Amino acid sequence: MNRNKILELKNVNKHYYGKNETLHIIRDFSLEILEGEFITILGKSGSGKSTLLNLIGLLDKPDDNGVYLEYKDMGLATEKEKNYIKNEKIGFVFQFHYLLPEFTALENVMIPALLKNYSDKEKIQEKAMDLLEKVGLKSRSHHKPSELSGGEKQRVAIARALVNSPKLILADEPTGNLDEETSEVIHQLLKKINCEMNQTIIVVTHSKELANISDKSLFLKKGKIESIRNNY
Ligand SMILES: Nc1ncnc2c1ncn2[C@@H]1O[C@H](COP(=O)(O)OP(=O)(O)OP(=O)(O)O)[C@@H](O)[C@H]1O
Ligand SMILES: [Mg+2]
Repeated sequence: MNRNKILELKNVNKHYYGKNETLHIIRDFSLEILEGEFITILGKSGSGKSTLLNLIGLLDKPDDNGVYLEYKDMGLATEKEKNYIKNEKIGFVFQFHYLLPEFTALENVMIPALLKNYSDKEKIQEKAMDLLEKVGLKSRSHHKPSELSGGEKQRVAIARALVNSPKLILADEPTGNLDEETSEVIHQLLKKINCEMNQTIIVVTHSKELANISDKSLFLKKGKIESIRNNY
């Protein structure tokens, strides 16, 4: 079966230009990600993992172009088109959950979908509840973030990332702030979402355990892929 190419990077470069020096952070980087793949990106601190993820997620721009999402050249997309893609096609999960403190778990999950289509509130609520159930938090739906544990907050953030049915989930050290046991719960959840929903996921992580359960691990060194491990 031919799977769609969700993402392609073709010779992507990223420099940071400082006062006294120029840093070449992402070097001639090429990569293809197929629909349904679960990819982990590993590498030392400073190797360029977050920079790479930000380029993929359109949060930052490469020097020239070279980022293709669903075969479309992001270098040719307008800011408006890119904002649309960021909202609708990509779900982000960060190390810090960024949940809104004054809203419940359910509302936090609903918000990205409400921003898109406020009139469909009932349907969105139903979907948000289904997602909270998927992440094992149905019984906590009316809790505010301050009433949730760190791992629970991160599970809400994952449900929120899924609410607009994105093509791609990008996560930057989603378990960086969590203890080992709680991290394992999140890792298994990401695996479940990948298997059950055929959700394409790219995770930056320092966790060997998460790398082991992903389909493919990329090891980054100085902005280049040093090695790739296939876990299929
Ligand atoms: N805005 C910026 N301006 C200048 N240099 C930057 C900028 N952002 C990142 N860098 C540099 O780029 C390099 C890669 O940073 P990046 O955040 O991608 O690393 P990382 O692999 O995610 O590291 P960590 O595991 O610590 O999160 C670092 O040396 C960093 O100092
Ligand atoms: Mg980082």
